[in-house]
Amino acid sequence: MRGVILALLTPTVLTLGLAARPIPAASDEYFALSGHGGPIMGIAVSPAGRIATASFDNAVGLWQDETPRWLDQHRAAVNCVLFVSETELISGGDDFALVRWDLTTGTATQLEGHAGKVKALALSPDGATLASASWDGSIGIWSLTGGATQFLRGHSGAVNDVVFSDDGTRLYSASADGSLRVWDVATGQEALRLVEHGFGINELALNDVAGWLAYGAVDGGTRVVDPVSGNELADLSLDRRPILALAASNDGSLLAVGDGEGYIMVVDTATWRVLRDFRAAARGPVWTLAFSPDGANIHAGGLDDTLHSWPIATIDEHGQMQTTDRSFLADPDAMPNGERQFKRKCSICHSLTPGSARKAGPSLSGLFGRQAGTVADYTYSPALDKTALIWTAETVDALFDIGPEHYIPGTKMPMQRITGAQDRADLIAYLRAQTAPKE
Ligand code: HEC
Repeated sequence: MRGVILALLTPTVLTLGLAARPIPAASDEYFALSGHGGPIMGIAVSPAGRIATASFDNAVGLWQDETPRWLDQHRAAVNCVLFVSETELISGGDDFALVRWDLTTGTATQLEGHAGKVKALALSPDGATLASASWDGSIGIWSLTGGATQFLRGHSGAVNDVVFSDDGTRLYSASADGSLRVWDVATGQEALRLVEHGFGINELALNDVAGWLAYGAVDGGTRVVDPVSGNELADLSLDRRPILALAASNDGSLLAVGDGEGYIMVVDTATWRVLRDFRAAARGPVWTLAFSPDGANIHAGGLDDTLHSWPIATIDEHGQMQTTDRSFLADPDAMPNGERQFKRKCSICHSLTPGSARKAGPSLSGLFGRQAGTVADYTYSPALDKTALIWTAETVDALFDIGPEHYIPGTKMPMQRITGAQDRADLIAYLRAQTAPKE
């Protein structure tokens, strides 16, 4: 269904009394764009702030004021979209095709040559060359001014993302083969294998001026490296996986990370501190992110067919932070080790206060001395339900020394070990302090 609703998501925002309205020009308030008939897989923002969406429903939506324009040409899901100018768009889809849209005349031109899904697009800084990342393992280099098309080959797996350097001479590519490579655009040759991550890399975001390149991977790895040397500058991994979306604000001061668990994390790139971390999707992943031109809002697409645009500065004041756990906002280096262990490895699934909330695991409140599998508001697996085990420092230590799947065979707690004895001891000390019943 493609009716057009500019709807507001939560009751807290509804109290602001906003009805259907144009997309805010100075975007510092929450808004939503509904109308697509499937999840939003890609978002593009023009310099003037126009928004285009690529959807699983095979259409590209062009959002302007209250009336979106539907661009129908793809024969399958559309994954990515990019503004070449205010009057020209390019999209790529599961039909292996790129479509170039002239928004003034309404003409759509198909660009063919890929033998696999087109997952991402990048425009050279001079606007003359387009790069496409494809699951056929190649990178398409398309001249937008009439020159020849080339395909760069070398990756041994699907190519998931591409980005040009500021001077347009280098192209970075991320692949399911686990590597992040650098290509010489003039010769079409691979110049450097910058990162071997081991797990597939999904996403890239580059700020050449500031000298950083961020990547996000299927294993949850979220790292920032020097774009020339590949040296690691920051590790933002939070044990959430997979990382599905990365976006940098136009001025490069903010990096947004979206994951398979529906969270959006906004990071200050001067200090690599987490500024905001909130659950944006009640269910399912964040597939795509893009900042408004002024960096005030982060636009996100997920499973619910709607683009949600979150005002970064006020997100928590409006009660939008659906996670009550603000601790990601603290500086991880200033955190004691036990707390850091918990934040990174456990907090995504466990609360420390009574009530298991919407988390995947039971509340750990009052853990020590408690019989395993007895939190009333939680549905355990048969393996853990009211077993004879009592949680103590020793049993929690053993749980993560040998791993849950060995300690309690059949548990639905995911495989994970904490191999450092000191890390386990610090974690347990932290849990003891935090889970003790409060008067
Ligand atoms: C991805 C989610 C996830 C992560 C991460 C996770 N857990 Fe769990 N945990 C679970 C689930 C699910 C259960 C319930 C398992 C069952 O019913 O078999 C559980 C159960 C437990 C239990 C048993 C609780 C009880 O009431 O018997 C303890 C203790 C525990 N987890 C501690 C931790 C600690 C400490 C960490 C971090 C090192 C951690 N968990 C990380 C999902 C997770």
